[in-house]
Amino acid sequence: MNILTGTLLEKSEKLQSLFEQVVGEVDQINSKITGIKPPDKTLEPASQALVDQLGEDRGRPLFLPFVGSGAGRGSYVEVEDGSVKLDLINGIGINILGHSHPVMIKAGLKASIQDVIMQGNLEPNKELCRFMHKLVELGSKNSHLKHAWVTTSGSMANENALKMCRQKTKGAKMIIAMKAAFAGRTSLMAQVTDDPGKRQGLPEYDEVRYISFYDKNNESSIEDSLSELKAHIEAHRGDICAFMFEPMQGEGGFNVAPKEFFVPLFELCKKEGIPIWADEIQTFCRTGEFFAFEALGLSKYIDICTIAKTIQSGATLYSEELNPRPGLIAGTFAGSTASLTAGYDMLTYLSEKGFMGESGKISQVHKKFIQMLNELNESSCKGLLRDAGGMGLMIAVTPLDGSNKQMLNLVKTLYKNGLIAFGCGRGPYRIRFLIPATITDEEIAAAMDAIENSIRELA
Ligand SMILES: Cc1ncc(COP(=O)(O)O)c(C=O)c1O
Repeated sequence: MNILTGTLLEKSEKLQSLFEQVVGEVDQINSKITGIKPPDKTLEPASQALVDQLGEDRGRPLFLPFVGSGAGRGSYVEVEDGSVKLDLINGIGINILGHSHPVMIKAGLKASIQDVIMQGNLEPNKELCRFMHKLVELGSKNSHLKHAWVTTSGSMANENALKMCRQKTKGAKMIIAMKAAFAGRTSLMAQVTDDPGKRQGLPEYDEVRYISFYDKNNESSIEDSLSELKAHIEAHRGDICAFMFEPMQGEGGFNVAPKEFFVPLFELCKKEGIPIWADEIQTFCRTGEFFAFEALGLSKYIDICTIAKTIQSGATLYSEELNPRPGLIAGTFAGSTASLTAGYDMLTYLSEKGFMGESGKISQVHKKFIQMLNELNESSCKGLLRDAGGMGLMIAVTPLDGSNKQMLNLVKTLYKNGLIAFGCGRGPYRIRFLIPATITDEEIAAAMDAIENSIRELA
């Protein structure tokens, strides 16, 4: 049998050994990064100039004065100003294996010898085939999801999902979403996102109706949300294309809900023929199972699911019934060869190295991190780090007085003290962490010091 030149490239022992050498050298150089470090006075001016220039070029300053140097190690990242930060938000959830992980460095190297940087939907290489099949394998394990379509962002995955739902429901217009939902930045996703501040100056299309997310402080929360859904269905029967929900709300405050909250809503949607759409763009890979709907025991209800962030691309997974007619879904780019390779390799690594399941590494990180926050809340930061919770690697806590102002102060102070986190919620405003699955006990201890110092500075 003739051997493909592509196979020779992929199997070349010489290239493999060069890759190993590169990974080793990168690791060796990055081993200088061992912990949080303050900025270096001699590097600060050039770093500030980059930050300022970027702000000027895009017409809006950066939220944090962060420009990465390109070096990092585990949960640590080096900044152009010479400082080293503990990165517990990683670009809002992109780097689940932390910085400079050998799996990801190698994925980039493997991609670099391919004939194309970007792969298109008309002429994909085998990286797209492998990656898509992996997604289908994971998605179909416990649910009706049977197909996947890869794209370049979470918002595009959502746009594709919405088109599929609308085609399936004969052009139905209305979308049911949850209050405090975040769905992305395209014109339509800005409508679904329950935040008028994120669609200032845009026309109102009146295509979305909201129901309340679970409220653990309200005894009738489940019945209330069900009544809201019933009312929307009464008002728009036959014109609802989807019930869209985040199994755990991200931007909305890292809000969790039990299975019992979702089941009556889903049963009603099933009865009414409304497709159930899980937006797992933030939750995918993070909750201790690949899909949060698996962690919550809701797999059998899901008709369509969108994922992004950790997979280095976006993707829509859908059932046979939602498979769209040709012509509805396409696009020039399927993804970069590096993203597709890294997405596949990262998923394989998480599957094979004990990250998932009740006693998996993600679940252990969750327990340790929550314990650390609770310990601070009960000792040196008494009452100032309340309600630590979330799922898996998504953890949030209500700091200080829970106001937006104090939360923002804390994000900036944490940054100064060497920890990168971000805010979420609508009041109380919370500090959120999207923790690398590879975080070590030492890194959690370093986080504890930075949080304690920052809270005490602001209290
Ligand atoms: C739940 C959810 N949906 C959609 C999006 C949009 O994804 P992207 O920013 O990749 O377009 C996000 C991003 O934060 C998200 O958290």
